[in-house]
Amino acid sequence: MNRAAPDRLPPGDGKVNGGWRRPAGSLPQDVGLGQSVGMARVTADITVSADGYSSGPNQSKDDPLGEQGERLHEWMFAHAADHEDEIAAILEARAYIMGRNMFGPVRGEWTGDWQGWWGPEPPYHHPVFVLTHHPRESVEMLGGTTFHFVTDGPEAAMVRAREAAGDGDIAIAGGADTLNQFLALGLVDVLRLHVAPMTLGISEHREVVRVFDGVPARRLKPAHVRATPHVTHMTYELH
Ligand SMILES: NC(=O)c1ccc[n+]([C@@H]2O[C@H](COP(=O)([O-])OP(=O)(O)OC[C@H]3O[C@@H](n4cnc5c(N)ncnc54)[C@H](OP(=O)(O)O)[C@@H]3O)[C@@H](O)[C@H]2O)c1
Repeated sequence: MNRAAPDRLPPGDGKVNGGWRRPAGSLPQDVGLGQSVGMARVTADITVSADGYSSGPNQSKDDPLGEQGERLHEWMFAHAADHEDEIAAILEARAYIMGRNMFGPVRGEWTGDWQGWWGPEPPYHHPVFVLTHHPRESVEMLGGTTFHFVTDGPEAAMVRAREAAGDGDIAIAGGADTLNQFLALGLVDVLRLHVAPMTLGISEHREVVRVFDGVPARRLKPAHVRATPHVTHMTYELH
């Protein structure tokens, strides 16, 4: 199978993350992260506009990334062949954590039977822990993906993801609200920003969270940069 084929990725976007190997002992030790500390890394991939947005406003079933948000992922869908390695890395983790808005457009109490954007066999093939304030039974999909709904916060989600991943990597799959919480907690080891050469210009939509909103200032250690006409891949080592 072509690992870079867009059909490996979430329909309408590329909101998944990938693997990286953590040096032993480099994970923060004080947040109850389970037995695998030191054996795996926490990665995060997110595509951002030059003005810091990873989605547009007014997400809906027809606009999974919000209005105009889909343009961010042109590099991934219209130019997949030019970015095979970066796309493949997004799906290398063995457990994923995402926010409820990344999982779908349903808000408030769960109604209906929403099972994600990805059809009966999502591309994750491993457990996915969805942060939400609204409890829901786990949803088992074809191909090894099970969505578990976590209502006790990001650290609890990390403990569960780490247990599920064993010695494999864990990926924070976005959106920005969720990623920012893990960044603020210091729980991301490798951050891969895919900067799309555009601005979204939506500052009037104050409800749209930007990447790094609420995250304390810090230095980032550049590990790798690769630019194409469609995106600049910037990898930072955070530990
Ligand atoms: N550009 C990219 O690479 C990329 C990647 C991923 C996603 N996206 C896009 O980004 C948008 C979603 O991002 P977002 O920032 O709006 O939202 P998000 O992070 O996906 O989800 C936020 C929601 O998750 C729940 N949640 C988050 N933290 C929680 C906590 N600590 N405890 C309990 N529940 C918690 C809350 O939902 P409830 O209170 O309703 O339960 C919250 O409103 C979508 O359009 C998605 O397609 C883009």
